[in-house]
Amino acid sequence: MADTETDAGVDPAFRQAVLDGLEMRPRAIGARWLYDFKGSEIFEAITDVPEYYPTRTERGLLEAYSGEVGEAMGPGRAVIEFGSGSSAKTPLLLSRIDAGAYVPIDISGDFLRESAETLGKQFPDLPIHPVEADFTHRVPLPDAVKPMAKLGFFPGSTIGNMVPPSAVDFLRAMKQTLGEGAMLLIGMDRIKDPAILVPAYDDAAGVTADFNLNLIDRINRELDGTMPRDAFAHKAVWNDPLARIEMHIEAVRDVDFTVAGKSFHMDKGETIHTENSHKYGPRDARILLRAGGWTMVKEWTDEDSKFALILCEAQPERTAP
Ligand code: AVI
Repeated sequence: MADTETDAGVDPAFRQAVLDGLEMRPRAIGARWLYDFKGSEIFEAITDVPEYYPTRTERGLLEAYSGEVGEAMGPGRAVIEFGSGSSAKTPLLLSRIDAGAYVPIDISGDFLRESAETLGKQFPDLPIHPVEADFTHRVPLPDAVKPMAKLGFFPGSTIGNMVPPSAVDFLRAMKQTLGEGAMLLIGMDRIKDPAILVPAYDDAAGVTADFNLNLIDRINRELDGTMPRDAFAHKAVWNDPLARIEMHIEAVRDVDFTVAGKSFHMDKGETIHTENSHKYGPRDARILLRAGGWTMVKEWTDEDSKFALILCEAQPERTAP
């Protein structure tokens, strides 16, 4: 998930996002900017902290139920993974279904080549066709898989990091990429007691705090910022009306700083909103999926219903009703 920097060292889109985000009220900088190289490393560490249940719960579901996914969809489908990254969860699925091909799509070519090579060794008979592209828009698929039935794969509950209108746009884009008759296997995190949710995003060891506050280091390093790290703290809150965990960077005292030559002031208690992680109850998930053009076929959850793995099929396009 690492964001790319230009040869000159600074991504102009990052500069713009930070300057605009510090001007706006409430202040907000998009979550994608948390994932520089260091941020991506810290995120990997988050997936192992005891309080962060989503990764291990989803892995458990994939281990237990991928066989049923295979039965429900039949053999020979091309598996298309969106934002495949290191394809860490892919073998759990591929080893239990009879796939016809695997197409990892990611914006990072380095990640793609590496993971395609690793998977190629593990699944020598499976044709693998990596595609380097921005998977949030319709992606043309390789000719070799065009005639095959498709299964989209979007694990990790990353859909939760999008506000619902963007999530719907993205679901529609996946449907356009995959085409008629496609199926989709998607991981979605469930609404649950904030006593479980908040520590998952504010763990005792401070790994998530590091992930969030790494943005300050990135701003200081890449945008010539003077944000004193000790003036800021990590904050994770459950926003019940919007059914989401929000991460913020909070000023713990009045503070003045500059970024790219521009001056800013924050009063003690003011925050910069850095991430949303939306959670979906079973019906909410179905409605979101339907809005995006997908109908649920089957879902699997762990015994505490913390996380859901949902198999859906592309709805035929209809005009009414
Ligand atoms: C990548 N994404 C699904 C994570 C989540 O749970 O929303 C990102 C994350 N942020 C803090 N902890 C994990």
